[in-house]
Amino acid sequence: MLLFALLSIISEKVQGTAINTFDLNGTSYPLIWGGDAVNFSAGANTELASYCWQGYLSSTQVKGKIVLCDGVDDGSGILVANGVGAIWSDSFLYDVSYSWDIPTTIVSSEDGERILDYIRTSENPIATILVGETLKDVMAPSVVSFSSRGPSIITPDILKVTTTRMDPTKHVDLEFAYGAGHINPAKAVKPGLVFDASVADYVNFLCKQGYNTTRVRLITGDNRSCNGTKIGRAWDLNYPSFSLAIEDGKRIMGVFPRTVTNVGSANSTYTATITSPALCTVKVEPSTLTFSTLGEKQSFTVTIAGKKDVAVSNLPITSGAIVWSDGTYTVRTPIVLYTILPGSNNGSYSMPAKEANFFGSPQNQKNGHGFLRRN
Ligand SMILES: *[C@@H]1O[C@H](CO)[C@@H](O)[C@H](O)[C@H]1NC(C)=O
Ligand SMILES: *[C@@H]1O[C@H](CO)[C@@H](O)[C@H](O)[C@H]1NC(C)=O
Ligand SMILES: *[C@@H]1O[C@H](CO)[C@@H](O)[C@H](O)[C@H]1NC(C)=O
Ligand SMILES: *[C@@H]1O[C@H](CO)[C@@H](O)[C@H](O)[C@H]1NC(C)=O
Ligand SMILES: *[C@@H]1O[C@H](CO)[C@@H](O)[C@H](O)[C@H]1NC(C)=O
Ligand SMILES: *[C@@H]1O[C@H](CO)[C@@H](O)[C@H](O)[C@H]1NC(C)=O
Ligand SMILES: *[C@@H]1O[C@H](CO)[C@@H](O)[C@H](O)[C@H]1NC(C)=O
Repeated sequence: MLLFALLSIISEKVQGTAINTFDLNGTSYPLIWGGDAVNFSAGANTELASYCWQGYLSSTQVKGKIVLCDGVDDGSGILVANGVGAIWSDSFLYDVSYSWDIPTTIVSSEDGERILDYIRTSENPIATILVGETLKDVMAPSVVSFSSRGPSIITPDILKVTTTRMDPTKHVDLEFAYGAGHINPAKAVKPGLVFDASVADYVNFLCKQGYNTTRVRLITGDNRSCNGTKIGRAWDLNYPSFSLAIEDGKRIMGVFPRTVTNVGSANSTYTATITSPALCTVKVEPSTLTFSTLGEKQSFTVTIAGKKDVAVSNLPITSGAIVWSDGTYTVRTPIVLYTILPGSNNGSYSMPAKEANFFGSPQNQKNGHGFLRRN
């Protein structure tokens, strides 16, 4: 975070976000709007110059000044035109901080409007940009707003996974925002149980997603084959989470076989504690796993079922978890359940052209893909 001060006539401070370590020592500089510094010879116009992209600004106008710009860019346009600093006006990037090669801050679009108004109504508009200050973010940790949200548009059968659960009250998208949560490096090296998966497991997964032997071999580079594997839900991929996409109008039902490998204590007994998502019951069989050596494998099956003859539709994400504990290690695996439009599961059988119909409930449409694709 950093404070940006408009001195002079209005003598007001505007708070923006940036990692700004440049110290202008409180000196005020002339303030100009990029749109008023058009390099016409370069074929620019007011709109292009207002973005302050490199090549569109006139160095005659910008030299020695702080420049207010529409949107956010890398600052090179102001740097090469010998400007002093940049103020980006953009409400989109309100919860992330970046650093630039020149003194910089990002203010909200509303504050940008007010600053432009100040530039318009002052004879000699001036400003300075202060060194950034660190503020304690009471919301931390949370997933930044532009980060893509689930469900995965490639396959509904996988939920992204990290480790420690995040605060569900801060993320309406729950696991679609944070996966299994925030990584805990200390615990990650001593997990207790791991979900091993071999090349054969991933080949089976791809075959279920609709890849045929020809395409699988392009990926593996060897002679593996699909061996007639039927296309379907890849609930058997040995993954440490459970993602169940139910088509509107269907009953909640999914069966997930899993195998864990003991990497904790040689002699240990793990017991499962289950939190079921709303509207369904989760059964784990067996719900106790006993190990007597390291590296030993044990299998279990998770069955997620709604009430008989009860169809669901238009459910936003609902989540639960299975937590295995032996008294020393806890191994948490999230469960997510959500509905999608009928037929949209078919679209995920490796056919990118069909991805658009994967967006089921309104919840699923609220995601950050747009931002990532822009880059
Ligand atoms: C601010 O002051 C420091 C210390 O006097 C000096 O090194 C630096 O160049 C000054 N910065 C500007 C932008 O004038
Ligand atoms: C305008 O752009 C041209 C072409 O990039 C450049 O050579 C020239 O120096 C620029 N003029 C000013 C005043 O910045
Ligand atoms: C495998 O899939 C590709 C792409 O869909 C297709 O062009 C090809 O004919 C398929 N090969 C076989 C042996 O079915
Ligand atoms: C697949 O490749 C392996 C090693 O190159 C070979 O031993 C095996 O016979 C091959 N299998 C088939 C079905 O071609
Ligand atoms: C397909 O069958 C071959 C021969 O039985 C076997 O070696 C291979 O692991 C199988 N592939 C998969 C993906 O199951
Ligand atoms: C685990 O238990 C077995 C049987 O009680 C015992 O023989 C073995 O020494 C134990 N291993 C460890 C590492 O404690
Ligand atoms: C989806 O796939 C199933 C099974 O192959 C098929 O019966 C159904 O008609 C397909 N639905 C759509 C909308 O393509």
